[in-house]
Amino acid sequence: MYKSVGRNLRLLCDDPAAAGWLRWLSQQAGAQCGWRAWNHTRLGQFGLTRFLQKEARVIAETDVLTPTLDGAYYTDPGILAAEFERIFEREWYYAGRAEEIPAPGRFIRRRVGRETVVLVRGRDQAIRGFLNVCRHRGAQLCLTDSGEAGRTIRCPYHAWTYGLDGQLVAAPNWRALDGVDRGRYRLHQVHVATWEGLIWVSLARRPGPLNEQLRPQVEARLGDYGKFERYRLGELTVGARAEYDVAANWKLIYENFQECYHCRNIHPELVTTVPQFKSPAIGAEGYDPGGYPIAAGRPSFSLTGQTVLPRLPGLLPADDRLFYGMVVRPNCFLSLVSDHVIVHRFEPVAPDRTLAVCEWLFPAQTLEAGRYDVADAVALFGKVNEQDFAAAQWCQPNMSSRAYARGGVLVPSEAPVISRYYQWYTGLMGEACRSATG
Ligand code: FES
Ligand SMILES: [Fe+2]
Repeated sequence: MYKSVGRNLRLLCDDPAAAGWLRWLSQQAGAQCGWRAWNHTRLGQFGLTRFLQKEARVIAETDVLTPTLDGAYYTDPGILAAEFERIFEREWYYAGRAEEIPAPGRFIRRRVGRETVVLVRGRDQAIRGFLNVCRHRGAQLCLTDSGEAGRTIRCPYHAWTYGLDGQLVAAPNWRALDGVDRGRYRLHQVHVATWEGLIWVSLARRPGPLNEQLRPQVEARLGDYGKFERYRLGELTVGARAEYDVAANWKLIYENFQECYHCRNIHPELVTTVPQFKSPAIGAEGYDPGGYPIAAGRPSFSLTGQTVLPRLPGLLPADDRLFYGMVVRPNCFLSLVSDHVIVHRFEPVAPDRTLAVCEWLFPAQTLEAGRYDVADAVALFGKVNEQDFAAAQWCQPNMSSRAYARGGVLVPSEAPVISRYYQWYTGLMGEACRSATG
């Protein structure tokens, strides 16, 4: 008997004479279909359906297990370069919070795909983004991840100086440059938009409206955008922040966040807090737009479950005691609870390395000195982060194993949400996917 798994189609044949056929067929599956599911239609294209019906048993596994991406997607620098080009440098990309740059001259520096961008608040209060590249000889203008530029951005190398609007305004021996069209040497500007206090940038030439990228994702998760607006994210402020240098591909982190098949196993504190997460079947119908309730008898979403913080001011009593988690593509996670919101930001750095920044947001009144201690609330997702990032790191080294060359599988509780995310991913990657799996 020759047994071959053409991604999620298993061919079993009791006749050794047919083994060569099946081996060939399996090779064609890999070559023709890449990581995608191999289905009966494709078999039909090979004109072999009848042969197989007669000679072999064809067991389609599509209803049970769904393929993941192949291992190379998590290790190949060419794939990451394509992701930078087609996803992170093209889509709106979450770069930071507006409150990080509250006054004119304050800046933050962020990696966006293969570029580095400086986001600075101008004297007109507008936030602008520029590639962090001096127009003279290419030095980095901002050498720290945040700071105060003052009234201008001055290159550390030869001191070309730019206004906060990107205009070249001065250079040493300025008179010798008389006649130079200064407008030609303004900083390279990128698109910037804010949404609920979060700054998003796009390196696309003409990106679509930010809202068109974000709103449908929120609606798909919550069923109702008005519910999300009640959290008034833009009015919240950071009460705690943690950074993680995760030795894993960004997609492993995203896939993990979108399933709770692992929750019972690695998140004891989380499943105590939200008992529904104990079920390994959770997610089989996709996300519940109604949210997941906190355990009866636990006053809050916190490590001890006992710390009581004020409800976010815009919420209704019906919003109490519910948890919602969602991926906001391409590089943000939101977790909503009734007394705080958790925002994750991700920067893919290398095929096997991702920077993760987690911020816990509260109303300013909650954070006023001495009023409430938010440490207990922060500690719960602090644990979850460490557990999740450890899991991603367990997987990363094996993404290059021959045993994972054709990837793994998703169980029914993982598949609905992760498959949709794969659709988004392959839709943007297009040809880059096909050539990767050649
Ligand atoms: S490289 Fe910036 S002033 Fe020379
Ligand atoms: Fe998790």
